[in-house]
Amino acid sequence: MPESNILPLKPKGRQEAGAGFLISVDALGYRRGGRSLLDAVSFELSRDPGITVLLGPNGAGKSLLLRLIGGLIRPDSGTIRFSPDFRGPIGMVFQKPVLLRRSVRANLLHALAIARIPRRERTGMLARLLVAADLTHCAESPARALSGGEQQRLAMARALVGDPGLLLLDEPTASLDPAATAAFEALVCKVAGEGARILLVTHDLHQARRIADDVLFLHKGRIFEHTPATTFFRAPASGEADAYCKGTLLT
Ligand SMILES: Nc1ncnc2c1ncn2[C@@H]1O[C@H](COP(=O)(O)OP(=O)(O)OP(=O)(O)O)[C@@H](O)[C@H]1O
Ligand SMILES: [Mg+2]
Repeated sequence: MPESNILPLKPKGRQEAGAGFLISVDALGYRRGGRSLLDAVSFELSRDPGITVLLGPNGAGKSLLLRLIGGLIRPDSGTIRFSPDFRGPIGMVFQKPVLLRRSVRANLLHALAIARIPRRERTGMLARLLVAADLTHCAESPARALSGGEQQRLAMARALVGDPGLLLLDEPTASLDPAATAAFEALVCKVAGEGARILLVTHDLHQARRIADDVLFLHKGRIFEHTPATTFFRAPASGEADAYCKGTLLT
């Protein structure tokens, strides 16, 4: 196994790329307080590795959708189906990482233990995750003393434990400077290149242009578009997405 690879912690556990869906979301609905927060949301993410960027204004329902797909909350209606050979786990990274009050190394060892990785395999995996996230130099530092960019890379390394076929990233670079953002994007692209499917929420349209293979546009709890990124940025099909990209969408 090449040392430069990040993901093949369980090389035989990955689904083969090809036709068909990894996730099929059908008529998903989520209501709270008499409001329909997600309404008849339907789309598929293909089994092919790549980066889907989820765009939409504040309050569109992007975080709710990620939490539903990640199984943290349950829908009121509709279904989320995974392809029969999807073995999980699903990795998640949020805007504000929740890290244990321990060293970087201890945070990752804890995640490896929770994932029930056999003890004899943990040292090698730990080393690979530290290299992948460029955190080897601060492995003994308290996780909460890291810079914002380092904390997000640690959150990403933790999300990679167990070789996830799907990563849900909710505005992971929202508070990072350009260099830290570039480092995080490079890590995301490398992970996608090694076979994972990524669903990433961002408000950074430059980032979306840089890394998206396809774009989902959500507004007021409804999907308006799901198109290849080149199509989306050349000419969004919906007036709402066009207005969002031009900064004139009224919520
Ligand atoms: N548990 C809840 N009860 C009531 N309303 C909720 C609940 N969770 C979310 N909402 C509402 O659902 C809407 C969508 O929230 P969500 O956090 O998914 O938006 P978002 O698209 O992620 O926005 P942002 O870009 O600001 O992060 C918001 O109006 C929010 O107030
Ligand atoms: Mg959100």
